[in-house]
Amino acid sequence: MSAVLLDGKQLAKEIQAEIAERVAGFKQQSGVTPCLAAVLVGSDPASEVYVRNKQRACERVGMESRLFRLESQITEDALLDLVSQLNRNAEVHGILVQLPLPSAIRTQRVLDAVHPSKDVDAFHPENVGLLSQGRPRFLPCTPHGVMQILHRSGIRASGQHAVVVGRSEIVGKPLAMLLMQKSSALGPDAANATVTVCHSRSRNLKEITRAADILIAAIGQPRFITAEMVKPGAAVIDVGVNRVAEGLVGDVDFEAVRAIAGHITPVPGGVGPLTVTMLLENTLQAARQQVA
Ligand code: GUN
Repeated sequence: MSAVLLDGKQLAKEIQAEIAERVAGFKQQSGVTPCLAAVLVGSDPASEVYVRNKQRACERVGMESRLFRLESQITEDALLDLVSQLNRNAEVHGILVQLPLPSAIRTQRVLDAVHPSKDVDAFHPENVGLLSQGRPRFLPCTPHGVMQILHRSGIRASGQHAVVVGRSEIVGKPLAMLLMQKSSALGPDAANATVTVCHSRSRNLKEITRAADILIAAIGQPRFITAEMVKPGAAVIDVGVNRVAEGLVGDVDFEAVRAIAGHITPVPGGVGPLTVTMLLENTLQAARQQVA
């Protein structure tokens, strides 16, 4: 039997239609158009594509997006100046600094400079702290996208063993927090998982991943999760985006794993479209909070 394919593109379309309705209502009631400022430093081709996708998604749901392009030689101080201007600009509700930044710039310093109320990536320490205490201001986009895929596909997390492979600040760590929290905006069934986080130094990785009812691959290595690492019937969510000679592949050996998993997300067309969608959600929420 082959796993049920979880179609992130379709889910994203549905959620974006819901967001578009809420954006229209907000605009009518407040007279304000939610606005996302995207900051792109240099011309990394993958970042160009990501930023374009984010801008197009804003247009689709009736929000404004403004792109600030800076050359890769820009100094850290000049970038901090721009962030500070955007923090003070009342027409801008959300600020996104596309990563990675050039190596000469201290990424943490720049991300910390984004005002927490405009931090739609949820990277600021204040927002990370609020999330870890179970009272989030914004949910981080990719982890939230994973929770939405599970919830809207009828896969309950409560009481299940969720194994997260990868401990990054952007995905693995915050996703573990969302899965283990007591309550969530999606209801108690969407949280309350028993969570194990493993990573490149974990011993007996295969035994751990094979115990997962829900297996999340976010380690950044092409086809790292093989069929023998997956329990038959498990839900497998692939957060990886790896560029290899044949094109884009995830962190899961898709063809082999789909033969034994219960559910599986493809790459591309799985988690990616949800990440962009959750950014829209955060931008709308930021506008709501700032206009209120
Ligand atoms: N680059 C890769 N993923 C992300 C993300 O989630 N946010 C930003 N700003 N840049 C990224």
